[in-house]
Amino acid sequence: MYDNWEDLEKSIVGCRKCKLCQNRKNIVFGTGNKQADVLFIGEGPGADEDSQGIPFVGKAGKLMDKAFQGIGIPREEVYIANIVKCRPPSNRVPEADEAQACLDYLRNQVILVKPKIIVLLGSTALKNILGKDYGITNSRGKWIEFRGISYMPTWHPAALLRDETKKIEFWKDLKEVKRRMDVL
Ligand code: URA
Repeated sequence: MYDNWEDLEKSIVGCRKCKLCQNRKNIVFGTGNKQADVLFIGEGPGADEDSQGIPFVGKAGKLMDKAFQGIGIPREEVYIANIVKCRPPSNRVPEADEAQACLDYLRNQVILVKPKIIVLLGSTALKNILGKDYGITNSRGKWIEFRGISYMPTWHPAALLRDETKKIEFWKDLKEVKRRMDVL
């Protein structure tokens, strides 16, 4: 674990801890306010993120930005990262060994950001952070308090592209996050 961003960011350059390094164009480390109260965790980069090296810049990210704008969460005020930092082939779900290999980077990011709230975007984020016993359908929209951090699981924005009805719940969950941000 590193106690500063510079060393952490240096440590990931050229990472070969798992097989996802083989096809990546860019490591998608994370973006945003390094002192954010709120940290968003997604699954892993897609094609656009792999090309640009920035999380949530593709279709799902644009949808998330729309929600941020509508609800009044400035994207630059929060920090955004993923469970895995390199794109899984064909956007498949990261395999357990890939997530395990990458999680120390995310743990270190959490330690440095020191967020009060973590928003878990989808099942992969939920299960890798809080454990396999959690399911997104039952957990979404409910605060989970763990070791001094408030976790809000919600749908992954890509799920909203497949199922419009999830949009209402996603917005409701982000509004709840905003409500709590405002009283921090
Ligand atoms: N989906 C994710 O989980 N993360 C991204 O950065 C982009 C799409």
